Amino acid sequence: MSGETDHSMEARTAQGDELEPPASFVEQANVTDPGIYDEFAENWPECWEQAADLLDWDSDYDTVLDDSNPPFYEWFTGGELNASYNAVDRHLDERGDETAIEWIGEPTDEANRSYTYRELHREVNEAAAALRDLGVGEDDVVTMYMPMVPELPIAMLACARIGAPHSVVFAGFSADALATRMNAADSEYLVTCDGYYRRGDALEHKAKADDGLASVDHDVTSVVVDRLGDDYDHPMRDDDVDYDALVDEHTGADVDPVSRDAEDMLFLMYTSGTTGEPKGVKHTTGGYLSWVTWTSQAVLDVKPEDTYWCSADIGWITGHSYIVYGPLSLGTTTVMYEGTPDYPDKDRMWEIVDEYETTQLYTAPTAIRAFMKWGEQYPAEHDLSSLRLLGTVGEPINPKAWKWYYEHVGGEDCPVVDTWWQTETGGMMITTLPGVGEMKPGAAGPPLPGLDVNVVDGSGQPVDAGDAGYLTVDRPWPGMLRTLYQNDERYVQEYWAEYSDTDSDDPDDWTYFPEDGAKIDDDGYITVLGRVDDVINVSGHRLGTMEIESAIVGVEGVAEAAVVGGNHPVKGEAVHAFVITEDHADGGEELRERIIQGVEDAIGPIARPESVVFTPELPKTRSGKIMRRLLEDIANGDDLGTTSTLRNPDVVDDIQAAVEGE
Ligand code: PRX
Repeated sequence: MSGETDHSMEARTAQGDELEPPASFVEQANVTDPGIYDEFAENWPECWEQAADLLDWDSDYDTVLDDSNPPFYEWFTGGELNASYNAVDRHLDERGDETAIEWIGEPTDEANRSYTYRELHREVNEAAAALRDLGVGEDDVVTMYMPMVPELPIAMLACARIGAPHSVVFAGFSADALATRMNAADSEYLVTCDGYYRRGDALEHKAKADDGLASVDHDVTSVVVDRLGDDYDHPMRDDDVDYDALVDEHTGADVDPVSRDAEDMLFLMYTSGTTGEPKGVKHTTGGYLSWVTWTSQAVLDVKPEDTYWCSADIGWITGHSYIVYGPLSLGTTTVMYEGTPDYPDKDRMWEIVDEYETTQLYTAPTAIRAFMKWGEQYPAEHDLSSLRLLGTVGEPINPKAWKWYYEHVGGEDCPVVDTWWQTETGGMMITTLPGVGEMKPGAAGPPLPGLDVNVVDGSGQPVDAGDAGYLTVDRPWPGMLRTLYQNDERYVQEYWAEYSDTDSDDPDDWTYFPEDGAKIDDDGYITVLGRVDDVINVSGHRLGTMEIESAIVGVEGVAEAAVVGGNHPVKGEAVHAFVITEDHADGGEELRERIIQGVEDAIGPIARPESVVFTPELPKTRSGKIMRRLLEDIANGDDLGTTSTLRNPDVVDDIQAAVEGE
């Protein structure tokens, strides 16, 4: 067939090949001018006025960036605004009767709940009045421990309206995890829920919340949403308040949105790091909201008339930024789905896209790998032609999964944006602009315009194209975290100390270190390789090995434990635990089960170890450091590199024997 060009997708996406975004997409895209990269580079930091201009401000800011005290950067200083006003009120005139939130419950025999902007405005006002009535004041942290029910974004927006930062704790986290976060934030208010539906069952949630509250070291008023109705008759404690009854007392109430300083805290979000204690990432009103609104428009191509769907859970940063704040600030319809993608069948996602004619889908590579495993017949059963753009987030996406998504979900007609970012960055940082850049399956893309991202070696020098190194961000950006809650010192230590001159007042001497490994190609496209700290990324969820280890060591009979991430075909990574028992013997099935339970109790089922290996010793260097890399190789069944630095090289044979015997 010489002379003929092979137009198959396989051929076009062969190693090194790039894909042009579909012309039909580019024609209508929000951003299409490649000049945006130069324009932002030349006009930095004023370029970010473009993001701030997407919002309504109560009073204008006087300075775009105050970098006089690095790394405590401030953005849009002097400006005032309210996030709930921007996400709701300002759309009332033109889009009051359009759908703001399209909520879809898991049971298929239940009607969806859809809120127009006007209805959402009502709900948010009444919830704000209710929270105030309970005593919530400006700057009081309100914790939310809720599954995917509409009252979650409503309560978040109600808090934003009255200037009370929220701290949402993922509903899959354990009671202990809730208590740790409430104690760390001194949070005296909790909004929670009786339960939710999962794969057809009504699961209770309130008992977990109550268990958590028992370990909180101060008084808490807790508001309980009734999701399950007659399916679960939840007991109420003396300090519990029923959400519906409370809100009913405020029917018709109006609460003026409080003008917040641009730098005032909008929310806190706890995330895992190297040490055992979760980090309280602080995001602000002006910078964060500008960032998620601008990136929703430029990268997700959100337009008011869209029905946009991000399938994340609001309990994680992706849901905060790209289910709630970004899309609603742009006045679009945002879809929220309560359940799992395989209930009642493995085509549930595609059924939703088909029925609601969703225009974007933003999901995680883990989900895509599960869809691949289930088979292309499921998306093929549905009309997915409403989709215009696909996105992924949370973990590296392998080219095979990328291509499957592009072909079987997008019909080769939708750009795919692989977006790298973190809880700390507030929103997207590295990705193609879908109406501008070519796509390279497996590589996230160039940094967004206005960002200075590099890949460097241990001493901060840029590595050669194609070589692995460490990702750094060399200039501040509006969506960045401002500090770790009440812990400025840890903020500097965790994110800046590695590559900055921490004695300097010159912002050029400061570099943000996200703790990810990456490589950069000649054309500036970045492939993110994964964490370089002791964090495991399971299904796009960030888990600290130290947190899991301390849970295991807390189990009776355990002397020492080391936890590593091993490769997993669907989840990306899985947790593997190596455990020394007190008598250095095999702990047997009973202890193994108690260890797994201990991890679920301390963190939640997402941290459940895939394997627990009992070993008489752990591989340690002569200086006593556990050689995690070696344990990772053992977990992955890989060839072991040099073990000569080990204090006791024989231990490796013992562990391998234990793994094989498992
Ligand atoms: O390792 C990177 C990975 O997820 C980490 C951030 O996790 P979290 O704060 O929970 O936020 C997840 C949602 C933004 C990063 O340090 N990560 C995130 N997106 C990607 C990714 N790794 C590779 N490619 C991505 N697109």
